[in-house]
Amino acid sequence: MTRPALNIALIGSGFMGRAHALAFAAADRTFDLPRAPHVALLADRDLPKATAAAASLGIARASGDWREAIDDAGIDLVAIATPNRLHAPIAIAALEAGKAVYCEKPLATTIAESEAMTAAAAASGLPTAVGFTYLYNPMIVLARELIAGGEIGEVTAFRGIHAEDFMASADAPFNWRCEPDQAGGALADIGSHIIAMARHLVGDIAVVSGRLHTAYPTRRDAQGTDRAVTVDDQMDAVIEFASGATGTLAASWIASGHKMGLAFEVSGTRGSIAFTQERFNELRLYRSGPGRTNGFTTICAGPEHGDYGAFCPAPGHQIGYNDLKTIEVKAVVEAAAGLPSAAKSFADALAVERVADAIRRSHREGCWIGLQTA
Ligand SMILES: NC(=O)c1ccc[n+]([C@@H]2O[C@H](COP(=O)([O-])OP(=O)(O)OC[C@H]3O[C@@H](n4cnc5c(N)ncnc54)[C@H](O)[C@@H]3O)[C@@H](O)[C@H]2O)c1
Repeated sequence: MTRPALNIALIGSGFMGRAHALAFAAADRTFDLPRAPHVALLADRDLPKATAAAASLGIARASGDWREAIDDAGIDLVAIATPNRLHAPIAIAALEAGKAVYCEKPLATTIAESEAMTAAAAASGLPTAVGFTYLYNPMIVLARELIAGGEIGEVTAFRGIHAEDFMASADAPFNWRCEPDQAGGALADIGSHIIAMARHLVGDIAVVSGRLHTAYPTRRDAQGTDRAVTVDDQMDAVIEFASGATGTLAASWIASGHKMGLAFEVSGTRGSIAFTQERFNELRLYRSGPGRTNGFTTICAGPEHGDYGAFCPAPGHQIGYNDLKTIEVKAVVEAAAGLPSAAKSFADALAVERVADAIRRSHREGCWIGLQTA
């Protein structure tokens, strides 16, 4: 039977734009999808870049204006892979034009924008999805199942960090991620991933006390001008979950030596789970018990874990970052087809943004901030 096409306009042709295009192509060959994803248009404000990327990725049309995607009645879904400032205007315009939206994280640059996006999604009744890519890892699927199944007992603590070092050098150039109104610093950029992970594994966060730090107050931009940096290079927070478990969250893009250190440990009354994205085909599990040889076990990813088997029939051979993006896209296509889906919606991403906002407020006001929980 021929499946209906899901016509997609992709906005942005940088790191994530390419990852989306590759994932849409791979997902249709890797999974049995309810609709056939077809990236029909690639828009970037840099038209020569869009044209070159479209040609190399096999996308028929390129545009220098994202509004072309909104005005095109043949587009079913808009995928947003632009700097954060543009997420809200593109997503709201797309939803008002009757298109589903797949948006990169973080949802937006302010709570007001995040709320407006979530309200537009609710008013439209259309599916939305946000790119919390690391949650789709088969080892994270396993961790969630182990925690929910009581394997480590009652969760007492989550200690997590998202550590990278792409801004660790004083010579790292000022870029859009340093602009407060375009992005929002390490907390917004990578902190959103570790907040999403904490919520995904342990549940709602009820109280935070946060501290932000800017290590480099100026950076030089691509034109050679020294620019003041007002966003954070690193964030540290103490948290308490609605369940009563406590813990810490940190995010740093100046964490020298860490290339993709999204790492955490979940402690429970009968065991622990430990993970780092730098070795993301492994999960470490500890079950409490006596014995001289009792300790952490390293579990290697294999076909019995999540969607690993769709890529490889052999355990331990490992999947890669683009495969995680492909699993994410499967969830996006299922959501767009109106099916049950693992996709994280705008409402889920708003909850992440509320935690990030509470950490910022706590830093500014020097006090604990409580959050509303379900
Ligand atoms: N899920 C993940 O693992 C992950 C990883 C990296 C980045 N991201 C997110 O993806 C988004 C993009 O990040 P990136 O690393 O790809 O950035 P990037 O700088 O590599 O690419 C951004 C692209 O957007 C284009 N752009 C800028 N203004 C535009 C406009 N007005 N209209 C159309 N295109 C425009 C730029 O020309 C560029 O091609 C960000 O929101 C970021 O937080 C997510």
